[in-house]
Amino acid sequence: MASATATYGQKEASDQNFDYMFKILIIGNSSVGKTSFLFRYADDSFTPAFVSTVGIDFKVKTIYRNDKRIKLQIWDTAGQERYRTITTAYYRGAMGFILMYDITNEESFNAVQDWSTQIKTYSWDNAQVLLVGNKCDMEDERVVNAERGRQLSEHLGFEFFEASAKDNINVKQTFERLVDIICEKMSESLDAGDPAVTGAKQGPQLTEQPAPPHQDCAC
Ligand code: GTP
Ligand code: MG
Repeated sequence: MASATATYGQKEASDQNFDYMFKILIIGNSSVGKTSFLFRYADDSFTPAFVSTVGIDFKVKTIYRNDKRIKLQIWDTAGQERYRTITTAYYRGAMGFILMYDITNEESFNAVQDWSTQIKTYSWDNAQVLLVGNKCDMEDERVVNAERGRQLSEHLGFEFFEASAKDNINVKQTFERLVDIICEKMSESLDAGDPAVTGAKQGPQLTEQPAPPHQDCAC
């Protein structure tokens, strides 16, 4: 497994100048386009080659939103089943999830319910989730229509976007919407004096420092 900090922008990762830091995970079946989505967002790059992710890695991106400097620590997980024990260990403390399927792959859509259960099992109760149907540039090969995506997202209580990492459709919008939802939830929780957010009890801290790469990874 590649070293997270060595691979991804060490300078930005160590930048301490931010108001909030949000940990976000991208999950979903293998080959749905999680890594491509992250590379499009963080580096504005895309490669047609498929290099399946081994374990987990992350990128850091700082954005301005709602007058705040928000540092996003975005974890790209491996979709392959054999890495599940490693990847679910990272769910804890995540404030947001991008749950992705591929609109040309029925199996990846059918797996969304299971991924949602994984989130409920391993993550913080208040974690926010966005459902993304990726590869919407491949209209000719589409097998999951947008309406099914929307219905499933409503059923699960998530917001929904169709997107394309390849053609850069709704990539930035997905991340920004997720950040906005997290901010909304955060201010509601602060108003209610939720200890998970105010830091009175164990729970994700709004400005927590980046977690070191997992012990199991060969960094
Ligand atoms: P794992 O790391 O195995 O979990 O897969 P992944 O979800 O990270 O998939 P990855 O980003 O590696 O993409 C898989 C393949 O789909 C690659 O060949 C990408 O080039 C391609 N791909 C990703 N996003 C898009 C997209 O929006 N449109 C098209 N046409 N191809 C895409
Ligand atoms: Mg990947």
